[in-house]
Amino acid sequence: MQKCSLFFISLIIILGISYIDAFTRNDFPDDFYFGAATSAYQWEGAADEDGRTPSVWDAFTHFGDKSNGDIACDGYHKYKEDVKLMAEMGLEAFRFSISWTRLIPNGRGPANPKGINFYKNLIKELRSHGIEPHVTLYHYDLPLTLEVEYGGWIDRKIIEDFTAFADVCFREFGDDVKFWTTINEANIFAIGAYTERVVPPGHCSPINCSTGNSPTEPYIAGHNMLLAHASASKLYRLKYKSKQRGSIGLSIYAFGLSPYTNSKDDEIATERAKDFLYGWMLEPLVFGDYPEVMKGILGLWLPVFTEQESEQVKGSSDFVGIIHYTTVYIRNSSPATSLLPGDSSFFTDMGAEIIDIGNSSISKEISIPWGFESVLEYMKQSYNNPPIYVLENGLGTLHNSTLQDSERVEYIQAYIGAMLNAIKNGSDTRGYFLWSMIDLFELLDGYETSYGLYYVNFSDPGLERSPKLSAYWYTGFLNGTIDVVTQEITQLQRNFSASFSL
Ligand SMILES: *[C@@H]1O[C@H](CO)[C@@H](O)[C@H](O)[C@H]1NC(C)=O
Ligand SMILES: *[C@@H]1O[C@H](CO)[C@@H](O)[C@H](O)[C@H]1NC(C)=O
Ligand SMILES: *[C@@H]1O[C@H](CO)[C@@H](O)[C@H](O)[C@H]1NC(C)=O
Ligand SMILES: *[C@@H]1O[C@H](CO)[C@@H](O)[C@H](O)[C@H]1NC(C)=O
Ligand SMILES: *[C@@H]1O[C@H](CO)[C@@H](O)[C@H](O)[C@H]1NC(C)=O
Ligand SMILES: *[C@@H]1O[C@H](CO)[C@@H](O)[C@H](O)[C@H]1NC(C)=O
Ligand SMILES: *[C@@H]1O[C@H](CO)[C@@H](O)[C@H](O)[C@H]1NC(C)=O
Repeated sequence: MQKCSLFFISLIIILGISYIDAFTRNDFPDDFYFGAATSAYQWEGAADEDGRTPSVWDAFTHFGDKSNGDIACDGYHKYKEDVKLMAEMGLEAFRFSISWTRLIPNGRGPANPKGINFYKNLIKELRSHGIEPHVTLYHYDLPLTLEVEYGGWIDRKIIEDFTAFADVCFREFGDDVKFWTTINEANIFAIGAYTERVVPPGHCSPINCSTGNSPTEPYIAGHNMLLAHASASKLYRLKYKSKQRGSIGLSIYAFGLSPYTNSKDDEIATERAKDFLYGWMLEPLVFGDYPEVMKGILGLWLPVFTEQESEQVKGSSDFVGIIHYTTVYIRNSSPATSLLPGDSSFFTDMGAEIIDIGNSSISKEISIPWGFESVLEYMKQSYNNPPIYVLENGLGTLHNSTLQDSERVEYIQAYIGAMLNAIKNGSDTRGYFLWSMIDLFELLDGYETSYGLYYVNFSDPGLERSPKLSAYWYTGFLNGTIDVVTQEITQLQRNFSASFSL
């Protein structure tokens, strides 16, 4: 769910680096993980092979004339090749997700032996190269059958089905997996799917969509995600943790949030936005209930935890997964109090407008990596300093632009530097994953925009992979030969001999 403008990129280049001090991999703890990420639908392809059935994403992309993940990077067949590239880069960990319908066709019932084998082989391949698997159970790809049967995340039946899916994952892969993320960016998923209609099932208000109810559905879906997460976490702790010794967390999408002006109204609106965007998920996980601000504004529209549910949700996350790309401005707008259905959405409830950082005369005063540091600092101060894994951070560029992606290198250096500042100030951040390990089918942009350290030639039947400058940089950073900031990007470019240019 990332957005960037050229303005934003140039801003990073101007301001990103000057903001941080020089550092190397050795400034981070030994047991910190530096990795890169993908997700099942975006990487695997092989959409109808070996028993996999459609997820809501297959249905969504095949409706109309959109590009799709039928083949994507063909990771399903090329996983060994990709793990080799990861090993050559010196990746310490790899984040990927499990396709629910590959593992359990149709979402419920017996597991698919070929699905189990694929993930076992992938995990084995990673381990044999010394790469730590960091597994996400749910990354937007609900089994289509469950959506059709009962509406997926807006029905409490999802809790039981999700827990059964998690059970198979823990049972089959848990001996070799120490890190489980239950749900990918739960907050923005609920918003994108149930009020903004940008991701499946694409609901919004009854006025504009044939299906949906945006005043209530995002909160119902979010509630069920918290309960499903807590249920999977409980199962893990009861049945697997003592033997497998892993940890389990939920992940949220976290914009950096900064007031648009220094008016009191914008400052209060920014605090409110933090409650709506982070607190919505993190307050229940840490303290057992929704933020007071949300309860006050939403009243009966916000689901209520029973005492037992509250106890189960509280403390159910061993770590918080953070997905962060950029910082936005928040401008106050009067909270909606209308009772007309369809006349409300998450952002009107929040009573604040999100303003792209590119659209402001004061943006030059803001260094965006600073917004990332602030997010980590806020988590530390507001939620009892939870262990954090940054599960996604990266920069999108036009897919066919260039292998000399020096702006991506600048971005990564600046953001890793900002993270280091937060760690030095006490943040318990324990890992960092670049989005993405290679160019993927992007959920919002198809094949137009890419985030990869490796370029994929999607026109080539062999889907050839080629390293970008950023892969070369990450390799050097991880093997300790690149000292960030003192290292001139132009020198890096000279040493990086791309086999071809685009
Ligand atoms: C319906 O769509 C129109 C045009 O995209 C938009 O201006 C309006 O705000 C939407 N209404 C609701 C209730 O979402
Ligand atoms: C900038 O924001 C203002 C006020 O929200 C809006 O009217 C204008 O269209 C925006 N400009 C751009 C280029 O997005
Ligand atoms: C560093 O942490 C302290 C204690 O939590 C806090 O008061 C201070 O604002 C933090 N500094 C920065 C730059 O975030
Ligand atoms: C990238 O370039 C290839 C080869 O020229 C072309 O076939 C493909 O459509 C381009 N892809 C995008 C997303 O522009
Ligand atoms: C991508 O692959 C196609 C087909 O093999 C080839 O013609 C094209 O030159 C390749 N593009 C790049 C940038 O390598
Ligand atoms: C370290 O990384 C750099 C930059 O990618 C590479 O040129 C060099 O060969 C690597 N050195 C070792 C010892 O792996
Ligand atoms: C680039 O090559 C020069 C000369 O071989 C070497 O001194 C320098 O360390 C290299 N820099 C990187 C980033 O690989």
